[in-house]
Amino acid sequence: MLPPLVLPLTLLYSLLAAPAVLAGDVPWLQACNPAHQKLQEGTYQFQTDCDAMTYCASNSTCALRGCRSDDFPFGYSSNVTIPDKCPKGMFCPDEQDSCQTLLSVGSACQFNRDDECEGPPNFKELADTTGFGLNVNGSICLNNVCMWANVTVGLPCVVQNTAYTAYGPDGEFVDIVSRGNCKVGLYCDAQQLVCVQTKAIGETCDADKECSTYNCLADGTCGRTTDTPVKVGVWVYIVVAICIFGGMIGTLIALYFVHRKDRTAEHEKRLQYWREQNAFRQNILQMQETARHSLMSYTPGGSPRSSQMIPSEDSVGPMTHGANKASALRYYVSDDGSQMDDRSDEDLMMRKRDPNPGRF
Ligand SMILES: *[C@@H]1O[C@H](CO)[C@@H](O)[C@H](O)[C@H]1NC(C)=O
Ligand SMILES: *[C@@H]1O[C@H](CO)[C@@H](O)[C@H](O)[C@H]1NC(C)=O
Ligand SMILES: *[C@@H]1O[C@H](CO)[C@@H](O)[C@H](O)[C@H]1NC(C)=O
Ligand SMILES: *[C@@H]1O[C@H](CO)[C@@H](O)[C@H](O)[C@H]1NC(C)=O
Repeated sequence: MLPPLVLPLTLLYSLLAAPAVLAGDVPWLQACNPAHQKLQEGTYQFQTDCDAMTYCASNSTCALRGCRSDDFPFGYSSNVTIPDKCPKGMFCPDEQDSCQTLLSVGSACQFNRDDECEGPPNFKELADTTGFGLNVNGSICLNNVCMWANVTVGLPCVVQNTAYTAYGPDGEFVDIVSRGNCKVGLYCDAQQLVCVQTKAIGETCDADKECSTYNCLADGTCGRTTDTPVKVGVWVYIVVAICIFGGMIGTLIALYFVHRKDRTAEHEKRLQYWREQNAFRQNILQMQETARHSLMSYTPGGSPRSSQMIPSEDSVGPMTHGANKASALRYYVSDDGSQMDDRSDEDLMMRKRDPNPGRF
């Protein structure tokens, strides 16, 4: 008996391995059953016993493939040379054993392999350029017979309805795809079996094939093609541009105001500093003046120069006092002026302290 842990693992392994066996894992030169080559139910994918690099040859062994139908084939090892695609005028069948020449109209072809059929003489007129896969080069493989998609309005047509198993968010559902040999721009009505003009956007429909856009919406009307790019109006571009530039300019303005606030605060600090310095200077000047007065009272009849000096210093006092009440800028300028005065005061002080009294 299996331990409890091994049993679920075995189940899981068999579940994972089961689809791989169905898809084919018999390697090159091993035995296979050619009868197992068929289309898978629901998906109509070709399946075989052999692995992705081989096909089941008629002698019941897996042989290396002789051609490929995909640009980027799946399942090849890096040490294996990938076979070439078939040249123009030939096709690679589902088995991918070897290239074959195109089949003439009326011959048997493989399911939905329109590319296996030879094009009509007027292939340029009949070829599907819509990108919906209505035909290949004007030919179509319907019910495994090569035909040309050349039937016009009202004439009898051949139809092939295929039910595919599709997988959506709500689980599996059946997707019926209907193809016919009508010309591009027409569809083969499944009841009357005659070609009918396709419908424009907005008209009622029952299937994708009835719409010129090949898109029948869930509400039963023809919608735009599923690959229609979303186009936005000019006003959206204008609104987006306004938002971008408005955001940039708004940021700049906001930054300007934020910095102006900082700048004002900084300026206020400097003003405060200058006021303090000026106050100190006034104190020093007063002290100096007091000292000079006491000196002059000490030496009566001083030089006339020093008596002239006193009013000049007095004039400095009121000026700076007035400046204290004035605006910041004027204060600053007057401060500069008083600095100049300061220099002359220093000059005077120097002269006064000049040890050479001969100049007075
Ligand atoms: C089986 O057929 C393939 C392709 O024709 C061939 O390459 C291979 O040698 C054959 N194998 C045997 C065992 O005859
Ligand atoms: C290619 O490589 C795989 C392992 O990656 C090996 O099993 C296989 O035999 C190789 N095939 C050839 C043709 O060399
Ligand atoms: C389409 O079919 C015509 C006629 O068979 C052929 O000459 C032409 O090369 C084909 N065009 C393409 C792109 O296969
Ligand atoms: C239309 O295609 C069929 C084959 O599908 C062909 O037999 C018939 O002659 C074609 N008709 C015209 C008018 O080309």
